[in-house]
Amino acid sequence: MDHRLSNRFLRLAVLFALIGMGLGYWMGATEQFTASPVHAHINLLGWVSMALYGLFYRVQPSAALGWLPQTHFWVALIGLLIFMPALAAKLLGGAGMQAAANLGLMVGPTLTLLSMILFVVIVFRATGSRAALA
Ligand code: HEM
Repeated sequence: MDHRLSNRFLRLAVLFALIGMGLGYWMGATEQFTASPVHAHINLLGWVSMALYGLFYRVQPSAALGWLPQTHFWVALIGLLIFMPALAAKLLGGAGMQAAANLGLMVGPTLTLLSMILFVVIVFRATGSRAALA
């Protein structure tokens, strides 16, 4: 049984949980809440979504086979790695950072949405009537 993709998602998820909760802890300690949306998205896209992806591939290892799940992993990861710094730059950066932030806020969320579209295809493929009979 190949659990490599599931393991990668689960390892990423706990790292994002640590970063997201660490940011929340810092926000609470300093009473600086400007970065709240970054905190919320790291926790929900990085921790919760990645953990769900990892758990899905764990219970359905056959769904992790082939190029599509690998593409799903990289698109989800790269999307979030562009999205979060861009959102932070938008909220916390000066005027000079806004152009780069706006570009990142076009590319990052598009990749993140694309990763969910890929996951929809993967889940439907793995849970369709043909898969249920196999
Ligand atoms: C150590 C753990 C955590 C700490 C210390 C923490 C702390 C905080 C703080 C200080 C805020 C801002 C509250 C305000 O604006 O008045 C916040 C907002 C929020 N947190 Fe957390 N949090 C933690 C974990 C999580 C987790 C695990 C999730 C989701 C899975 C989460 C989701 C959110 C959301 C959705 C908001 C609202 C963001 C917004 O209004 O823009 N947090 N958190």
